[in-house]
Amino acid sequence: MTQEKLNELLKDMSLEEKVGQMIQLPAEVLTGGGLVTGPTGTTQLTDEQVGMAGSVLGIKGAEKIRELQKQQMAKQPHHIPLLFMLDVINGFETIFPIPLALGCTFSPEMAEKACSVAAAEAASEGLHVTFSPMLDLVRDARWGRVMESPGEDPYLNSEMARAMVRGYQGDLRSKEKLAACLKHFAGYGAPEGGRDYDNVELSERTLMEDYLPAYEAAVKEGCRLAMTSFNTLNRVPSSGNKWLLRKLLREKMGFDGVVISDYSAVEEMVFHGIAADAREAAKLAVGAGVDIDMVSNAYAGHLAELVRSGEVPEKLVDEAVLRILTLKNDLGLFEDPFRDVDPAEAEKTLLRADFRQQARETAAASFVLLKNDGILPLRKEPENEAEEGQDSSCSGKGTVPSAGSTAWIGPYVDNHEIYGAWSFPERPEKTVTIRQGVEAKGLPGMSFARGSYMMDKGCATKFGRIPNPSDEQADALLEEALRLAASSQRVVLCLGEHKDLTGEAGSRTSLGISEGQMELLRKVRQVNPNIVTVLFCGRPLAVKEIAALSRALLVVWMPGTEGGNAIADVLFGDRVPQGKLAMTFPRSLGQVPVYYNHFATGRPNPPHEIHLFRNGYMDEVTAPLYPFGYGLSYTEFTYSEVKLDRREMKAGDRITASVTVTNTGGVSGVETVQLYLRDSSASVARPIRSLKGFQKVSLAPGESREVSFAIEEPMLRFYDIDMNHVSEPGRFEVYIGGSSDAENSAEFVLA
Ligand code: GLC
Repeated sequence: MTQEKLNELLKDMSLEEKVGQMIQLPAEVLTGGGLVTGPTGTTQLTDEQVGMAGSVLGIKGAEKIRELQKQQMAKQPHHIPLLFMLDVINGFETIFPIPLALGCTFSPEMAEKACSVAAAEAASEGLHVTFSPMLDLVRDARWGRVMESPGEDPYLNSEMARAMVRGYQGDLRSKEKLAACLKHFAGYGAPEGGRDYDNVELSERTLMEDYLPAYEAAVKEGCRLAMTSFNTLNRVPSSGNKWLLRKLLREKMGFDGVVISDYSAVEEMVFHGIAADAREAAKLAVGAGVDIDMVSNAYAGHLAELVRSGEVPEKLVDEAVLRILTLKNDLGLFEDPFRDVDPAEAEKTLLRADFRQQARETAAASFVLLKNDGILPLRKEPENEAEEGQDSSCSGKGTVPSAGSTAWIGPYVDNHEIYGAWSFPERPEKTVTIRQGVEAKGLPGMSFARGSYMMDKGCATKFGRIPNPSDEQADALLEEALRLAASSQRVVLCLGEHKDLTGEAGSRTSLGISEGQMELLRKVRQVNPNIVTVLFCGRPLAVKEIAALSRALLVVWMPGTEGGNAIADVLFGDRVPQGKLAMTFPRSLGQVPVYYNHFATGRPNPPHEIHLFRNGYMDEVTAPLYPFGYGLSYTEFTYSEVKLDRREMKAGDRITASVTVTNTGGVSGVETVQLYLRDSSASVARPIRSLKGFQKVSLAPGESREVSFAIEEPMLRFYDIDMNHVSEPGRFEVYIGGSSDAENSAEFVLA
């Protein structure tokens, strides 16, 4: 439909019809069920209002969507098609690693492909919009939703934002694409205490410098929707924040898409104490620029009357509705409301072999090897007991372990639910477990035992308490596991936090795994020191003891459909680990929030030392256990010194920084070479270093490669003392290495 026709349609619509386009229904109103992603039973709409609604969230299934589209359009005076929206966060039916794991690939290409697969599967069932990418910068692992974010760095998050929007959207008229929705605008990743939905206090400089870049990148990439965040930003709830939505998002950042509130966030302004009632909440939200009211009664109940009373100019409603109609038009819905969705085609699309292969490669690339004394990769062929690196006296009880035997132990061994909290596969049984992945390798000497429950008795999760495993059952599991461990050459312990301890409403006051699993680890260690720990998690955990008791520690996050295969690929060396941490692992909970791009302070402390009257703690160094950008390979890489082709930069100049990276180990590997810059003195304090570039290089044993980065003046800009986004003359340090604590450096001066 042309823009002119859209304008004519808008003119012809009644006020009730227009307001209807600004209402989003929860699935339960239309189907009695659907995916639950917020409080249920809260919608009080008339049948007429339900009939007028412009969109719905939480519905899957090609048949169902076709049926509902037909049913709802028939009720619309102008038969305007509905938008069907869903949280397609890390894949649709082929589940990919959680976004935090995707960040650890440092591969925008992989992120783009993952989102393209997700869009193809979701669109094949008739979905139009995904509530993704979530781009909230995160620094506090207590917050459950860190698993949804690409991580703690503005640059990495921006690169991921661009790639994910490209992956989802492409050409929106294509039947394999979805409109993307950046979220949660803004600053939702910094709630006080890591408590979900809590207040966020950010200076405007910190907001602009650290939290905004990824949202900006998504806007520049053409992201079609933006979702307001639940939190108050400096005591103003985002859904009623005119400065945030109109001044910053639309005017300064140039966003011209649809703004949708988060789930019932408009009406929640009453609870925030900002609106006296839903009527006032509706007035605030439409004034701030919220186009769609997700699952609240504010717009449905009050917006038409607010317009008729003259308190809200109809122009505001018209602008919002035109943006919604434009999105529907760009999706081609006026020409084909069903986007020629065919349930049989959809069936063939879901879990396609090439999609699974992509998921397997992406999962393997997202794993981060935090420790390895040489026990990995596991040998495939049986070996004699005295084999180098395997402590044959491991049984400690005179039991001679069988050659090349590996015991796979832990509550994750047979677990299909190795996907993130925002995954809704119809067929979870299609997820490859660790046992299935290992057995598919067809190797001798593999044995399996559960060893413990995943969670302790009565452990609280957001969906209620876990059923109490009986003591006897738990003891029996432990006994069987210890017998197996004592009679095997090595043990792979598959441990982690349950997916329901992460995600929305998944904030925790501890960063450990269950006591039952820790007991399993400690007792196995007593009978066999040859432990490889595979750790499932949706957030950085405090893993000091786990690392100390393991000869190798591989973080696999929540790897998704191909998790078991990817884990087997990496542990047996068919794929070399290449992941780098996108979020810092703390030494202890007390360090949180802890992140690499912090400030020197006036009393800087060497990160691994404790000094009186210096920045830090009395009882712990400030260095994390594993820093941002860190991750091991099965080989080693060395770096030459940093070379700069000039030491002084004038306006318009470009400095080329380069290093030669060499694979000095015995196997091929992939290294993520990272470029960090530090502005040594400026009109405001600057981070001790900031990521400004990264490149992945694949090197064969002995191979060297020169890696170069272009450094240009715009990369040096920041919000100065007057909040101007400028660079300032002075000295800059350049660091290039395989982690954020690289010491390899050089200096230049900006004239
Ligand atoms: C949830 C989340 C948001 C999600 C929305 C719809 O509460 O905050 O990320 O997209 O509701 O499910």
